[in-house]
This record gives sequence, C-alpha cells and structure tokens, in this order.
Amino acid sequence: MTTKASGIRLAKRLDEVGFSDIVQIRNKVMALRAAGEKVHSLHGGEPYFETPDPIKFSAVRALVENQTHYAPSSGIAPLREALAQKLTAKNHIPSTPNDVIATVGGSQALYGAFQSVLDPGDDALVFSPYWTPIADLIRGCQSRPLLVPTSSARRNGIIATLSQFATPQTRCIYYNTPQNPSGVVFTRSEAEEVAAFAIERDLIVVADEAYEDLVYDGAHFSIASLPGMAERTITCFTFSKTYGMTGWRGGYAHALEPFMTALKKIVLYSTNGVPTFVQHAMVDALKTSEAEIAQRREDYRVRRDLIVEGLNSVGLDCEPPAGAFYAFPNVEKIHRNSRTAAEILLEKAHIATIPGSVFGAQGEGHLRFGYAISIPEIEACVEALKTFLK
Ligand SMILES: Cc1ncc(COP(=O)(O)O)c(C=O)c1O
Repeated sequence: MTTKASGIRLAKRLDEVGFSDIVQIRNKVMALRAAGEKVHSLHGGEPYFETPDPIKFSAVRALVENQTHYAPSSGIAPLREALAQKLTAKNHIPSTPNDVIATVGGSQALYGAFQSVLDPGDDALVFSPYWTPIADLIRGCQSRPLLVPTSSARRNGIIATLSQFATPQTRCIYYNTPQNPSGVVFTRSEAEEVAAFAIERDLIVVADEAYEDLVYDGAHFSIASLPGMAERTITCFTFSKTYGMTGWRGGYAHALEPFMTALKKIVLYSTNGVPTFVQHAMVDALKTSEAEIAQRREDYRVRRDLIVEGLNSVGLDCEPPAGAFYAFPNVEKIHRNSRTAAEILLEKAHIATIPGSVFGAQGEGHLRFGYAISIPEIEACVEALKTFLK
C-alpha cells in the first residue's frame, strides 16, 4: 500500500522562511520584567520619542471627517503628490506621483520588491551583516540570499567583492544605507560602484533607505538618483524611524515600470492599501521641517557618542556607527558566540541586546545595542556594563 502525503501541509515556498529570533529575546525580557527585574532594553529598534502631536491630530481629524472608507489601493493623490515632491527635492530622484506607491511600512515595500523581481532558483546579493527579515523575504521567493561581507567589500573594492559572490542566477542586489545593524553609511562613490556593477550585469537594485534621516558622519545618498539607475532600482522607505511612527505602518516605494505595476498588484491583493486615515497623517508628517528632523538627528548623535564611549571604556571595541541607531561592538571578550554573549549579558547584567549572528555569519562576535532610548537609560546601561565587566 502506498502512503499518501497529507494534504495538511504548508506551501513549499515557506519551507526555508524563518520566524524572527528577536521575538524570542523580547519574550525573555518580558519574563524577567514579569518577575520584577529591571532590564536595560537595548534590543529594540524604535525611536525614543512619541509620534509628534501634529501627526496624531491629523489622524484624529481624518477619522472625524470620516476618512474611513476605501482609498485608492496605491495611495491617495495628495500623499503620492507629496512623496513625489519629497523624492525629487530630497533624494534627487526625479519623480511623478505615478512612480510612488504607499505601502504598509517599509516592510511591505521590501516584500513587494523581492516578490516583483525574484523567481524560484534566483539569487540575490545581500551586503552582510543585514537586517534579519531580508534573508527570509528572499527565501520566501524560493530564492537564495548570497551574503557579501560589507567590511571586505569596503576594504577590497565593491565591484571586485560583488563579482566574487555573484552567480549566473543573480537577479538583484539588496542595498541598505544606512545599514542595520552595523550603522555603515555607503558613500556616493560606493553607490556608483554598486550601480556600475548592476548596470554591467543587468541586475536590479532593491534599495532600503529606512534610516535616510539618521546619518551622523557623511551624507545620505540615494542610488536611484544616479544616471541609468532609477529604471533598475526599487527604493523602499518608511515613516517609522524619521517620524516615530513604527505602529502606524506607513511606508512607500519608488519604482518605474515594469516594477510599479507589480508593486501595485502585490499591495492590492495583500492589504488593498494603507489605512485611509493613516495616509492623511502621512501627508502631514511630510510637512515636518528639516530643522526638526536635524534636531532629532543631533539628539541621536548624543546618544550614539554616549553608548560608544561606554562600550569602549569597558573594552568592547566599537567604531562610532556613521548612521542608523545601533552600536555593533565586538563582544568576544564576553563570549565568542554572540548568542551566548547575549544570554550572559541578559542574565548577569540585565542588558537586553541582539546577537550579531542573527544578522548573518558576518555579524558573529558582535552584539547589537539599540541606542534609540532615553539618555538616563543609556547611562544606566553603561553603569551596568561597568559593574559587570570591571
Ligand atoms: C533596515 C530596515 N529596513 C526596513 C525596516 C522596516 O520598517 P517598517 O516596516 O517599520 O517600516 C526596518 C525596521 O526596523 C529596518 O531596520
């Protein structure tokens, strides 16, 4: 008798897709807190400030005015207009409202980008360490992430390193600047190298600019603004970090055809757009002055300098990250295995961090300390480190 495979099984495309390790750390932190322990929370990635009042009032106004109905799935006209203006003026990507789409966070933009370009059996080049969900987004397309060590690429040449890892099946490059978790900010000339490689090999670039407003050293540069790149780049943005809007799930992407048609289909059939009143608040968020954004950046810089100095003072070597809001020191002094190092730090010093290995093999030996928290919280963490490592 032949045994028949059960119909109660998942689609194969989910076989290689993991579920965030970070959630497990969050659960441990909650258990410690429930037991009455104080935990220094450096495991997160949320801005230290609440969503500014004008943005909240804008959403409330939209609700009161009954902006509670279906909206065009790709975004309301005033939002797409405002996004096109922002992209043209700030990112130097000449844009019309047809080239932008509102998404449910940067996450949906990235999901849509990979789904739009990757077929089963394709490969995607990913600078590593990388933001953990990226490998799963790629695997969910039954494609393979090819990890390219960022530090050796910067040392030995971007084109030479990309050439070393590319395969005939390579379809796209994931290009995140500023990078989570390393804080690396690629320079304009590095963007030019990635662009030259993409053009030469006829590849698509999935650019992730979630932290575009958080650059302390150097300047943010959008790869799609280079000649010949807008047509082969899908650039993904979020309102989460700049405007303190993580829970609103507002994001957007810039793309030209044929990619925009694909993104429109993916957004239509997954969420049918971003909630209508949230889109109205997004329009008002975009009115935030550059001075206010710059002030917050300076507030983050103070935090960065505090944590970096604290880490180095206890012998955890840490370069000042040029962007984003994470420090990524070498912690081999605590333990060579970053998961064990994170467990030791949580149990012995009650400091919650993320093990570097969850960001790819290139992150091993490091821990990610998210410093988008209050200054007294950072100071308390540094004190706890000093007591633990003295
Ligand atoms: C590198 C990077 N890209 C994209 C995102 C997406 O953010 P969201 O889905 O909140 O917009 C994040 C969030 O942490 C991130 O770190």
